[in-house]
Amino acid sequence: MHLPDFKVARSSTKIDYKKIDYKLNPKYLDKYKGKKCYLKTYGCQMNEHDSENIKGILELLGFDFTDNMDEADLVLLNTCSIRENAHNKAFGLLGRAKHLKQTKKDLIIGLCGCMAQEEIVVNTIISKYPFVNFVIGTHNFYQLPEILEKSESKQQIEVYSREGDLIEDLPADRTSKYKAYVNIIYGCDKFCTYCIVPYTRGRQRSREKEDILKEINSLIEKGYKEVTLLGQNVNAYGKDLYDNYSLAELLEDVANTNIPRIRFMTSHPWDFNDKMIEVIAKYPNIMPSIHLPVQSGSNRILKLMGRRYTKEEYLTLFHKMKEMIPNCAISTDIIVGFPGETEEDFLETISLVKECKYDNAYTFIYSPRVGTPAAKLTSNVTKEEKEKRLYKLNEIVNTYFKENNEKLVGKTVPVLVEGISDKKNEYFGYSDTNKLVNFTGDNVELGSIVNVLITTAKTWSLDGKVGK
Ligand code: 5AD
Ligand code: SF4
Repeated sequence: MHLPDFKVARSSTKIDYKKIDYKLNPKYLDKYKGKKCYLKTYGCQMNEHDSENIKGILELLGFDFTDNMDEADLVLLNTCSIRENAHNKAFGLLGRAKHLKQTKKDLIIGLCGCMAQEEIVVNTIISKYPFVNFVIGTHNFYQLPEILEKSESKQQIEVYSREGDLIEDLPADRTSKYKAYVNIIYGCDKFCTYCIVPYTRGRQRSREKEDILKEINSLIEKGYKEVTLLGQNVNAYGKDLYDNYSLAELLEDVANTNIPRIRFMTSHPWDFNDKMIEVIAKYPNIMPSIHLPVQSGSNRILKLMGRRYTKEEYLTLFHKMKEMIPNCAISTDIIVGFPGETEEDFLETISLVKECKYDNAYTFIYSPRVGTPAAKLTSNVTKEEKEKRLYKLNEIVNTYFKENNEKLVGKTVPVLVEGISDKKNEYFGYSDTNKLVNFTGDNVELGSIVNVLITTAKTWSLDGKVGK
């Protein structure tokens, strides 16, 4: 069995990988016609997009999809490792699948995604969950047809986790008809000390710009209005491939395809440069909305986290973006209760949040991940204290969401119409600054971008009506 190396060096050196153009062996086409798959996805946009590709492959094999596990022939869990609760949820669902297999002997059960890259999880599956048919890591789900075939012989399949290969032309069953995720870079070389992603997703590997632009042009032909360029750290795009082609140049090339809306996530402050900000400011089809995780406002904790910037450097970047990009909305991620975080450190985070007045913030209690350097640190923060800090932080960030939304009342914002809500004549979609807008209007076309006059601000959304 090949398991990921948990002692990988901290480096951005090029790794040896192959580019493979996906092609389904025709012998698998429609092999499972009439069978149903229950696919459950946990975690980030990267996992959601992997699941779109997994669905694309399974459809070629003839599978239909069901939300009811009881009627499934294949149960597939696409898992997340980022915090312990994501683990617990997946193991909970495996328990349900085990129960079902007692009455349905032919049921195939597979675990894929980030948890499948963790040695400790794989060992647990092998010893305690022998009813699982296969475990596929994040780099190998394109081999599903062969893996499914092998699992018909009923023995547990060994783990597939060869790192690195870039698979182009994967089929995809996309959740939205108007918005699409496009991977631009896989993996991460930042090795923040709390984070398991560099181990579960591997080294940084950029897709070739021609492949990205080809995918976006084909999405435009299919009528897509928005692309989100995806990566754990999109600002590192190109570093492993080109000398003079970075996210800034890629954004320009994507903007010149004239797709109406471009977003990108996630950004690491350390790799964000002025040229990128200038390009975002220059092109009206690059949305003024940036996810810029800060994680902590204390320099001492930022250093322990291995984030490579100080609070002051982060704030300089933040204010530059606000100044250079008109109406720019900035969101963030924050962790409380990192080992050694004192009340003073936490108050520094609160003071940063008060200065940044974020448009959105995802807040987490630190969760030790086996194999990461921070997991070896001892924590002095009690569970109660962590919960208190999270509560206080949430109270403060929420007030700014509402305050920022209130500034939009009476203004008109462009909204990509994504759906109709239950109420008559009510639609919903997202603004240029990525805010959920519920609105009324006559003859509104789904997938169009309409101007909506904002009438009411709430903490998490805006209400409005189509108008000038
Ligand atoms: N514990 C808590 N939060 C974490 N994140 C990443 N790793 C951990 C961890 N071990 C958060 C970070 C990151 C977001 C995706 O998840 O804030 O930006
Ligand atoms: Fe994890 Fe993001 Fe840090 Fe990479 S940059 S190690 S994905 S937190």
